[in-house]
Amino acid sequence: MPQIAAVFGSPRRRGNTATLLRQAIKGARDAGAEVSEIVLRDLKMSPCLEIYGCKQSGQCAIQDDFQGVLKHLLASQGILLASPIFFYTVSAHTKILMDRCQSRWVKKYWIDNVPFGAHRNHRKGLFIAAGATKGKKLFEGSLLTVKYFFDALDTQLWRACLYRGLDFEGDVLKHPDYLDEAYQAGKEFAAAL
Ligand SMILES: Cc1cc2nc3c(=O)[nH]c(=O)nc-3n(C[C@H](O)[C@H](O)[C@H](O)COP(=O)(O)O)c2cc1C
Repeated sequence: MPQIAAVFGSPRRRGNTATLLRQAIKGARDAGAEVSEIVLRDLKMSPCLEIYGCKQSGQCAIQDDFQGVLKHLLASQGILLASPIFFYTVSAHTKILMDRCQSRWVKKYWIDNVPFGAHRNHRKGLFIAAGATKGKKLFEGSLLTVKYFFDALDTQLWRACLYRGLDFEGDVLKHPDYLDEAYQAGKEFAAAL
């Protein structure tokens, strides 16, 4: 049974990305995956303090909820990440988690000396994002950020489900096609693990 860690990156508990992520989780569970849910807004997580306490061991020196989250991420074969677009990238909650994973980047590239570009990414990641506007470049920043965050966790971006024109809480409920797509993506994701 594949293990998946699902990360809720929005400050809204019942916002657009949370609703889409729930659909993906449902799809993944229906396909037989075991999914642990991580709601970032409920956790106490300091931003990275850039003290490089991780330089010797690859472990972040700040003791808070990050350690528990990381344990789930590393125990998973798949990571489902959902974030709203805030100023053309991921939410602050999501970015804090990403920056704390610099400890994994340090372990991978400084301690274990993995050459840049060497493909060792044995996990898969599915990214779900929603933004209010409809611009062509709406997701460009977030996709770059997510790609490199996933890489620090030995994770390959498997698919991105990106939704424009969603602003207010509940907007996504007016788009049953988006909800279906997220469910299907979760199902196919679990099958791909
Ligand atoms: C701080 C903040 C920054 C935002 N920045 C953008 C943006 O750059 N582009 C955009 O299209 N929407 C932006 N939005 C709108 C959200 O992306 C949109 O409301 C989204 O559906 C929220 O998803 P959620 O309900 O999962 O939190 C922003 C909203 C907030 C609160």
